[in-house]
Amino acid sequence: MNILLLGSGGRESAFAWKISQSDQCSQLFIAPGNGGTGAYGKNVNLNPNNFEAVRALVLKEGIELVVVGPEEPLVNGIHDFFAADSALSQIPVIGPKKEGAILEGSKDFSKQFMARHGIPTAASRSFTKDNLEDGLAYLQAHAMPVVLKADGLAAGKGVLILDNPAEAQAELKLMLSGKFGDAGTTVVIEEFLSGIELSVFVLTDGDNYVILPEAKDYKRIGQADTGLNTGGMGSVSPVPFASQAFLDEVERDIIIPTVNGLKKDAIDYTGFIFFGLIKVNEKPFVIEYNCRMGDPETESVIPRIENDLVELFVAAGKRKLKDYKLNISPKNAATVMIVAGGYPGDYEKGKTITGIENIRKSLAFHAGTILETGVIKTNGGRVIAITSLQDTQFEALQSATADAARIYFDGKYFREDIGFDLV
Ligand code: AMP
Ligand code: GLY
Repeated sequence: MNILLLGSGGRESAFAWKISQSDQCSQLFIAPGNGGTGAYGKNVNLNPNNFEAVRALVLKEGIELVVVGPEEPLVNGIHDFFAADSALSQIPVIGPKKEGAILEGSKDFSKQFMARHGIPTAASRSFTKDNLEDGLAYLQAHAMPVVLKADGLAAGKGVLILDNPAEAQAELKLMLSGKFGDAGTTVVIEEFLSGIELSVFVLTDGDNYVILPEAKDYKRIGQADTGLNTGGMGSVSPVPFASQAFLDEVERDIIIPTVNGLKKDAIDYTGFIFFGLIKVNEKPFVIEYNCRMGDPETESVIPRIENDLVELFVAAGKRKLKDYKLNISPKNAATVMIVAGGYPGDYEKGKTITGIENIRKSLAFHAGTILETGVIKTNGGRVIAITSLQDTQFEALQSATADAARIYFDGKYFREDIGFDLV
């Protein structure tokens, strides 16, 4: 079958790499893709949020399966658009409709959802301009630190952790008067949880689910988890501090109530659910939901899945995940993200990348790259994810880090410590 994958990051490179290995894939189209995805299929330069352009491509190329990588088209309703169009409605879309994507699209909604279904999460209250005074009083009495979250999508920047009430009150006022645009019309004030974070993923068909390998991502720009938050500087899978007993608890207390909660709320959900978790005193709590896979977690998760990914997606699209058995490699994956100098602040693009052919024991999943007249150049902040799959975590970390050093471009930076805190 012909398959369309939407997105352009390292996550989509990992999906494309795996989809292209399937016997069931005749032709893979990646829209828009990046400088590396052309190795796995055909890049098509269109914006995934332009649904009419997606429709035209799907009809022209006889696409029979659509996989949506990023959250934005989902939150904007791409699955609803397909469902409402008689020429597209029979084509399975991996990714929820708007009513499911709101789990990521509105933090206020997700907190209410968790409260309704008894899912463990930090205590919180939501405020708008209309009850700003109550919000200020709430902060005055709140334990510090405290977490302020813009309700809507804010490109990963809408979460602030503050150490004193006056600062938190000032930030609440700024957020409610437009610091994050419409995303901050409602602000969730949340209890700060202290613990260690990990990411757990399921693919659900609306009735059943399969649990994918768990992962841990490293969000800070600097070595030893210092400096600004980024989209993710690296990841590992499996996660050494997630024992089977802990993961069983995650399934019982978080995954099952979430999938059942969606059903109880009559939200028909086909796609990934990403559980951003924090382990506090051995217990899992949900920090956030995402309606997609993580990046750079996917780059560590996908290489550990031994099944045919297209078969898995088709089963999800047909609501046949019940009894689907996922075969997970016992090997260890480590991903090191190579980024542009200046990221996550301002950075330059268009730097020539060399040395990709010199990597020895890893996969190079392109992210912010572009192929220009045969030359690979940088085209984003997160440039290339280097993933190594090895027998031990230490070997995987060493190979990924060593291979990341073999790639060069002006201003290149990567963290040399990803995962070493865990071994
Ligand atoms: P989010 O966008 O909700 O994932 O938040 C971004 C990051 O902020 C998370 O990955 C955590 O590191 C941190 N964070 C969010 N909520 C909390 C919380 N309640 N307690 C501690 N840290 C948090
Ligand atoms: N790595 C975190 C995310 O994808 O949101």
